[in-house]
Amino acid sequence: MTVAAAADWESRYRDGATGWERPGLNDAYLRWRANGLLTPCRILIPGGGRSSEPLAMAESGFDVTVVDLAESAVAAQRARLEHLHVRARVELANLLEWEASAPFAAVYDQTCLCALPPAAWPEYAERLHRWLAPGGILFALFMQTHSAGGPPFHCSISAMRALFPAERWVWPERLETKVPHPSGLTEQPVVLRRV
Ligand SMILES: C[S@@+](CC[C@H](N)C(=O)[O-])C[C@H]1O[C@@H](n2cnc3c(N)ncnc32)[C@H](O)[C@@H]1O
Repeated sequence: MTVAAAADWESRYRDGATGWERPGLNDAYLRWRANGLLTPCRILIPGGGRSSEPLAMAESGFDVTVVDLAESAVAAQRARLEHLHVRARVELANLLEWEASAPFAAVYDQTCLCALPPAAWPEYAERLHRWLAPGGILFALFMQTHSAGGPPFHCSISAMRALFPAERWVWPERLETKVPHPSGLTEQPVVLRRV
């Protein structure tokens, strides 16, 4: 299925219209690192943009793959990562067409899902499942906007439970505390294990 992109992401980067960017590392990322849920492994960061978590992970010993379709964001991540002799690669690609050369142990989705048109979510969720090895972990930041339209599109927990059903994904018993986003919105961190 071909679904039109929700936005012209490259133009947004070029115009500096990047209200989704954080000045530092996501509190949820820091929490997962501190409590030992997120440990060095081969990890995919879809729609990684210019976020700082890929470098933090690479410097901590993760084998990082970033995929994004915005040329200038990819160039920025490459400039930051690829000359540092850390284990990292940055690919310019549409995630709805891209395939992994081998399954990953983890995926870190920091507001990538909410950037995709909801019509593409089932396809994207299918791909996330395929990109992860059995037992692999999806570290997700589901954007909470509680309003219509987007991007970012509201990722209600009921919609997420339908998209990541219990037969294919193990959900935590309790949801974690939400993290604030500089835009005034919040993100719901969720750790899902791929069955
Ligand atoms: C809301 S931004 C989040 C960026 C980054 N994760 C962060 O936290 O700063 C969404 C990102 O997804 C990328 N993106 C959107 N649709 C995509 C697609 N179909 N394939 C690859 N990347 C995509 C955009 O270029 C953008 O960098």
